Amino acid sequence: MPVHPHCTPDALALRFATETQRFTASHPRSMAQAQAAAQHFLFGVPLHWMRDWPSPASLFVEQAQGAQLTCADGHTYSDFCLGDTGAMFGHSPAPVAQAIAAQASRGLTSMLPSSQTAEVGALLATTFGLPQWQMALTASDANRFVLRWARAVTQRPQLLVFDGCYHGAVDDTLVDLQGNSTVARPSVLGQVHNHAAFTRIVPFNDLAALEAALADRQVACLLAEPALTNCGLVLPHNDKDGGFWPAAQALCQRYGTLLALDETHTLSTGCGGYARVHGLRPDLLVMGKAVAGGLPCAVYGFTNALAQRMVDAKQAAPEGHSGIGTTLAGNALALATLRAALRHLHTPATYAPALTLANQLAQGLRDCLRRHRLDWSVTQLGTRMELLCTAQPPRNASDMRRSSNHALESLLHLFMLNRGVLLTPFHNMLLVSPATTPADVQQLLALLDTFLTA
Ligand SMILES: Cc1ncc(COP(=O)(O)O)c(C=O)c1O
Repeated sequence: MPVHPHCTPDALALRFATETQRFTASHPRSMAQAQAAAQHFLFGVPLHWMRDWPSPASLFVEQAQGAQLTCADGHTYSDFCLGDTGAMFGHSPAPVAQAIAAQASRGLTSMLPSSQTAEVGALLATTFGLPQWQMALTASDANRFVLRWARAVTQRPQLLVFDGCYHGAVDDTLVDLQGNSTVARPSVLGQVHNHAAFTRIVPFNDLAALEAALADRQVACLLAEPALTNCGLVLPHNDKDGGFWPAAQALCQRYGTLLALDETHTLSTGCGGYARVHGLRPDLLVMGKAVAGGLPCAVYGFTNALAQRMVDAKQAAPEGHSGIGTTLAGNALALATLRAALRHLHTPATYAPALTLANQLAQGLRDCLRRHRLDWSVTQLGTRMELLCTAQPPRNASDMRRSSNHALESLLHLFMLNRGVLLTPFHNMLLVSPATTPADVQQLLALLDTFLTA
């Protein structure tokens, strides 16, 4: 059944064709650059996901600053995608740009710790509440390393994830729930091993399923986002005493499973991330993307007790490659940039205006839906929110799959893009940065109103 009487597949396809023509006519330079780039780049882009936008060619970016982005055709956009979180503090935040410039002529990488290391460690501990840290270049890498440490210290083979999860290019987590079994996600390319063999998967917000998966004490680690953000935004349910996470955390402790929270996207919750804001006590935390203001950098933190077990595991192993780490991890440029981000971006003062504006945007979206008598809803996690074509916010990934409408979402994205607003190319996810202005929010709300009227 269509989500709205006018949203038949044919009507959506017709509108989409009109918007595609509009993009082509108004973006001649992006169209030409796409053709030129295709000579030497697979799919015409340096990363093939850049073609996941609904436009007929990628938008080629001339520059991005704050919450604004300008394309090769000179159009300026209010950016609510923000590099799918990498720029959640805005594009090129001033303290980060200054730190990069200052370090650029003082050495980029030496495979030695720079003299800022101890200060960065102290800042990480104060900001995120765990005492011990290691660095990586991407959140995918950090997650891979966390899983390896977890298996090494617990000597348990299995991992546990939630259905609908995404933790980056980490094969063990690229799995789906089919009935009660774990299957390799069919879209994964080129994997010859059965990477689902050592991973269990359960629905989010389901404590009984979680306990059943942990009970035989074979699970080294539960790797989870505190709220699902990659199959759409699914919040943890807080309808039982204390809510889902305190109970899930207690189950992990009861069965000796490490709890690793991937806060790469849930840093949107508030300063320090979801666990800090809600008083959770994970064994491990992972953050990438925006942790150093958008410069490639990721970190993972852990407790002192776990650090001791990691040292013991390393010392018990023969000399040689651990399978953990990459040469450029913890390089001088990343450390200097991370230091600036921790001092100036991961602060209550930076978050406060973004959280206020995000609340206004969420309210504005709800008001707009009400005016149009649409039984849709908005879920919000701090500065991140999602517009859902369903009245009931989903409780897990299968609810989310049932409620999503790809054709309608693509049309909305292209409609907005053609009129100067960028949304994340999947779902209707919006992110507000400290650089976002009330005028950006008004522009988005006015466009949504026009879209729904049309
Ligand atoms: C929760 C989460 N963790 C990890 C990653 C992987 O980040 P990266 O692609 O920067 O390695 C993503 C990417 O979207 C993510 O959403």
